[in-house]
Amino acid sequence: MRYQLKQIGCRPWTLSGLSVRLMESHYENNYGGALRRLNAITEQLESMDFEKTPGHVLNGLKRDQLTALNSTLLHELFFSSLGGDGQPTKKISELLARDFGSLERWRSEFRAMGYALGGGSGWVLLTYVPRDGRLINQYASEHSQAIASGVPILALDMYEHAYHIDFGANAKAYVDTFFRNLDWAALEQRAEDAAKVPGPRPLVQPEFENTPSITVEEVKEMMAAGKPLQVIDTRPRHFVSRQQEIADGIEWRDPEQLEQWIGELDKSEPVVVYCAYGFHVGCKTAIKLREAGFDAKYMNSGHSGWKAIGHPLRRHG
Ligand SMILES: [Fe+2]
Repeated sequence: MRYQLKQIGCRPWTLSGLSVRLMESHYENNYGGALRRLNAITEQLESMDFEKTPGHVLNGLKRDQLTALNSTLLHELFFSSLGGDGQPTKKISELLARDFGSLERWRSEFRAMGYALGGGSGWVLLTYVPRDGRLINQYASEHSQAIASGVPILALDMYEHAYHIDFGANAKAYVDTFFRNLDWAALEQRAEDAAKVPGPRPLVQPEFENTPSITVEEVKEMMAAGKPLQVIDTRPRHFVSRQQEIADGIEWRDPEQLEQWIGELDKSEPVVVYCAYGFHVGCKTAIKLREAGFDAKYMNSGHSGWKAIGHPLRRHG
């Protein structure tokens, strides 16, 4: 396949404080250069005999392919980031305030990251992470440090070729000029598009779809806040005797002996039960408790979840 050249994403003659000469050189030499490299590498890979190619040759080419591909993508985004009047829209201000505290707080981190790359090189990106449904400012060197699954929606090029012609070594003045030319309306549209990208699909247990669950973080928060909550570790006996540990502040009860301990529970307070990883035993225990009239949920990551969030353990058994 051949990668196609994209038109420059802004009108260079309308920019304030960025010369046409700089923008042309950037587009033709640096963006164009990356595209030409990408196509040359792709051609080489297409004709390569993978059985006979030494590993280091393949590694080198794949590394160069990644660098060249990301360089084309990020340059296209960079050019599209420019051409506006530098006036934030209401919607994007609200989005940035949601994820950074305030528009000003976002801008001050993004700008500082740009300043910090002056004299070095790399990208400053505003990236949407579908798993978390939120934006983050990201540093990226070598054109290749993309956040896995991230959708970059704003790019500031901090390689010297992006500003040297107009600003010499004055990277700060260049970053400030970038902000003056920022196309906020286009950024808002990209943020809207990115927000439509779904996060990873969660694990589904169809047989327990209708049983309410709770996360280990929620349980921890409720316990710390002193909310009324009865949390019981109901791992199978063999798990507990093998691991000989239990999350601090929690008692174990044998899921096989439910009838013997159900009487200890208080129906006026919610109950959370869990097993080793959040699969069958915890879910089934929650179902039995619900059938007996309790407001019971299962904790969806189980005992391993407590360990994974670093909750203290104590010896048990
Ligand atoms: Fe560049």
